Amino acid sequence: MINEEMPVDYTAKLDEALNRLHDEGRYRTFIDIERKNGQFPHATWRKTDGSETPITVWCGNDYLGMGQHPAVLAAMHEAIDATGAGSGGTRNISGTTVYHKRLEAELADLHQKESALVFSSAYIANDATLSTLPKLFPGLIIYSDELNHASMIEGIKRNGGAKRIFRHNDLAHLRELLAADDPRTPKLIAFESVYSMDGDFGPIEAICDLADEFGALTYLDEVHAVGMYGPRGGGVSERDQLTHRIDIINGTLGKAFGVFGGYIAASSKMCDAVRSYAPGFIFTTSIPPAVAAGAAASIAHLKVDATLRERHQTQARILKTRLKAMGLPIIDHGSHIVPVIVGDPKHTKVLSDMLLDRYGIYVQPINFPTVPRGTERLRFTPSPVHGAAEMDVLVRAMDALWSHCALNRQEMSA
Ligand SMILES: Cc1ncc(COP(=O)(O)O)c(C=O)c1O
Repeated sequence: MINEEMPVDYTAKLDEALNRLHDEGRYRTFIDIERKNGQFPHATWRKTDGSETPITVWCGNDYLGMGQHPAVLAAMHEAIDATGAGSGGTRNISGTTVYHKRLEAELADLHQKESALVFSSAYIANDATLSTLPKLFPGLIIYSDELNHASMIEGIKRNGGAKRIFRHNDLAHLRELLAADDPRTPKLIAFESVYSMDGDFGPIEAICDLADEFGALTYLDEVHAVGMYGPRGGGVSERDQLTHRIDIINGTLGKAFGVFGGYIAASSKMCDAVRSYAPGFIFTTSIPPAVAAGAAASIAHLKVDATLRERHQTQARILKTRLKAMGLPIIDHGSHIVPVIVGDPKHTKVLSDMLLDRYGIYVQPINFPTVPRGTERLRFTPSPVHGAAEMDVLVRAMDALWSHCALNRQEMSA
């Protein structure tokens, strides 16, 4: 409760914090969407005045449309009918079910590791694992790519151990940092296979070579790659036949697999130790059995059917080619992510609003701190369920708005 007699005006502090975001044009507004099973990427936008507008989602991370795949939905229905809603406990106290065990076996097999551990999300998996590792390897130094996801940064920050930040994908800098430390100190290199905002790849093989040379463990976040890369969807490490060189793989069940949750896959000993020491694994209710069942069905499907993976890559290539042909400043590192750099938070928001209001195209503006200031962008995520007609509407809309906005920077700044 806020007491007017109090020496600190808490409400004013909140206003100040929020106003800072408004002033910089990076106050986040969530749009209220209702996804429609079987019709994704089509959805309904519920406006604040209660009215509804049909939209096409172009910024989701249900990269392959697995969130509405019949095999996933059937597994979830079956599990919910069989077991009810929640798991009813932490993994340790009554919350480990056959569904959790099956999902972990599916994940271990996907990554050709001895074991896997499921967490509430990949955010929690990163944070919990990286904050726990110094307890397992006293004196551990973590070498972290400067563009690693917030969940890795949080885990590394909180763990009380030593850290070194290497410039993004800069192997010479990483080598320099590794060489400067005592060879007898335990070390771990943490990085990503696909960096989600630029869509560029981490140099996995070269980092594994450095890890071998300096006796370091490797930790790879494959959140934006699992399900989408590799012959069975095991990520870029599988595609490049490097899985065996990664000590801990982190992935999500909420993006290409279309459900919810996160995990690590590693040796049995590593998983056993993290399972036993990580508060973020131990002291929380396990994911609902139906969620585990849906995720397992999705992984199993994508292991044997590469059709969606291939269509996904084709769609990304087509969209990039078409946007490039119009002269738009897109970043293209050959992945499935299509960022169009606008370079200013207010302009990005205006473009995003115009796409939504005029064309029913939903693409959320991406601002600092998710990306560096001056690189604000629209991040498009074409999927196998976006049809040719939807792509035409998007390309034409971008063409019209980009020219309009170039001529009307004043209007956009207003
Ligand atoms: C690189 C990376 N790692 C981890 C996560 C967290 O994944 P989850 O949504 O499962 O928490 C994200 C989420 O966007 C991410 O981009």
